[in-house]
Amino acid sequence: MAKVSIKRFIMRRQLFPLRKLAVYFPYKQQPRMSATGPKDTRSEDYTARLRGLQRVWWKRLLNVQAPYRRNIDRHLGGRRTLDVGCGIGRHLNHLTNESIGVDHNPDSVELCLAQGLRAYVPDEFFADDTLGKFDGLLCAHVLEHLASGTQAEILAPYLDRLASGGWVMVICPQERGYSSDSSHCDFVTGERIAHLLTDLGLHVTLNYSFPLPRAFGPYFTHNEFCVVARKP
Ligand SMILES: C[S@@+](CC[C@H](N)C(=O)[O-])C[C@H]1O[C@@H](n2cnc3c(N)ncnc32)[C@H](O)[C@@H]1O
Repeated sequence: MAKVSIKRFIMRRQLFPLRKLAVYFPYKQQPRMSATGPKDTRSEDYTARLRGLQRVWWKRLLNVQAPYRRNIDRHLGGRRTLDVGCGIGRHLNHLTNESIGVDHNPDSVELCLAQGLRAYVPDEFFADDTLGKFDGLLCAHVLEHLASGTQAEILAPYLDRLASGGWVMVICPQERGYSSDSSHCDFVTGERIAHLLTDLGLHVTLNYSFPLPRAFGPYFTHNEFCVVARKP
């Protein structure tokens, strides 16, 4: 039996106890969505959702973001970074001071500005030719919000603002994280990110699962695909 049909057989629950093994077979379909919540990332509700996620007291107490910050710091630390889809500034807050965020949600941009961060909506960003080139570009948890097939055309104009030799880091959620947000519409794996960046003319140097190995993707909400590339 072909690999994919074994996976489908298991996923149909005919072999319920074996469902967890399905992770070892290639993903043919998008993970099932179980989330409720705002579907439009431009809405005020979506900004409120991001705020709610960041405010959870036990996450702040345990500083659960620390390893994720270090992971980004390893590649973009000390670089003037363009944070594409910066949301309410979760990462922008920890990038170097000269870094800039762009987000198509005006309420999220407002919230970044209120924290003293530099952020723009895309039209304002592209209209401002005083911003110069960046040494790093971060695109964290954004591509899965974009319609399949549109990611390259949306990312390309931002890459034009990256200096030659600059580094790019793209992060997307794995299965469990993907199904936790109803505005997600395209499951983007590390392999897909790597192809996308290669097609955009970058040299991919790393493609890894973080913080846990890839097999934890269907169970751990915060497991991520991380791809690092360099602009020639
Ligand atoms: C899940 S949030 C991630 C925010 C931030 N990068 C982080 O990791 O905390 C996704 C963000 O991407 C933004 N976004 C989605 N499509 C976009 C687009 N075409 N241009 C700019 N921002 C976009 C949304 O408004 C939202 O703030």
